[in-house]
Amino acid sequence: MTQNELDTSAHPPVVAEDEDEYALSGPMLIEKLEGNGITSGDIKKLKSEGYHTIESIAYTPKRALLTIKGISDAKADRISMEAAKMVPMGFTTASEFHTRRAELICVTTGSKQLDTLLGGGIETGSITEVFGEFRTGKSQLCHTLAVTCQLPIDMGGGEGKCLYIDTEGTFRPIRLVSIAQRYGLNPDDCLDNVAYARAYNAEHQLQLLHQAAAMMSESRFSLLIVDSIMSLYRTDYSGRGELSARQTHVAKYMRTLQRLADEFGIAVVITNQVVAQVDGMSSMYNPDPKKPIGGNIIAHSSTTRLSFKKGRAEQRICKIYDSPCLPESECVFAIYEDGIGDPKEDEE
Ligand SMILES: Nc1ncnc2c1ncn2[C@@H]1O[C@H](COP(=O)(O)OP(=O)(O)OP(=O)(O)O)[C@@H](O)[C@H]1O
Ligand SMILES: [Mg+2]
Repeated sequence: MTQNELDTSAHPPVVAEDEDEYALSGPMLIEKLEGNGITSGDIKKLKSEGYHTIESIAYTPKRALLTIKGISDAKADRISMEAAKMVPMGFTTASEFHTRRAELICVTTGSKQLDTLLGGGIETGSITEVFGEFRTGKSQLCHTLAVTCQLPIDMGGGEGKCLYIDTEGTFRPIRLVSIAQRYGLNPDDCLDNVAYARAYNAEHQLQLLHQAAAMMSESRFSLLIVDSIMSLYRTDYSGRGELSARQTHVAKYMRTLQRLADEFGIAVVITNQVVAQVDGMSSMYNPDPKKPIGGNIIAHSSTTRLSFKKGRAEQRICKIYDSPCLPESECVFAIYEDGIGDPKEDEE
């Protein structure tokens, strides 16, 4: 049986509808903090800043809580302390951690070779960056993942909805229809499970993450996409003089993305553009030197970095550029009408 004819009749229609169940097993809603000197007014202030779960508070430094209007020093202490009591944050053994990592859910890219390269697929709980020149398939991968993240776990999915932040206006729901059909999913359900927002400027792009946090605290999402991460920063901040302000904002954005990944166990996928690399040595040894933009901030806050390049016809090459546990290797995949897949044999 090929991937195109997977029998999905045995599976319930994507994403558990049961929000009560999610409330039991999902993240702890921030309302549970009320009491012990924390008022409903305090909860409201926290929510207005994008904190919707106790996990989000526990993972945030007190400094950040102090920037919220109306939260005093003593109150911030109290809130942090109460949250820390409810979220395990101490040491664990490597073996326990190993077991937990072995259970980590990966979302399939649609290509078996690409999944193998990535050690199973796109990892949940961390940020994966995909960069490359135009037409290398970055947005096509995002479209495929927006569907596969909804699949049951035993089919390589994340059993959750997708949140799609589009900064370039290249999201095309029609692409999801053919991808959904490939996996035997109902296209209408599939589209309903993708929350889409177009971001218009860098500030708005961050604002959308606050809304995302609220939505994720209410139902199960498994993937957040930002396509692409830097384009609005490039237009909103121009010139050397604004570089430091830009990087401060990018850092805040990336921290928020990582917090969402930790808090909700979602996979975060960002795409990035490249520029010609001009520094002497690297261009001497590399005939076509290109590097992702966003500098050290993006480099250090993306857990896994993938470089996409064009190949023959619909074929593309993915290279692992940086990863905490994968070697620098590459593979070939292809872009089809029904999403990302493996290159057809007769073309290899
Ligand atoms: N329906 C489709 N069927 C097959 N291939 C498609 C389809 N739609 C788009 N493509 C291919 O996908 C490629 C575009 O990929 P994509 O939009 O992901 O590029 P990108 O890396 O996001 O580029 P950019 O940096 O401009 O955003 C094109 O080469 C196009 O031929
Ligand atoms: Mg694109």
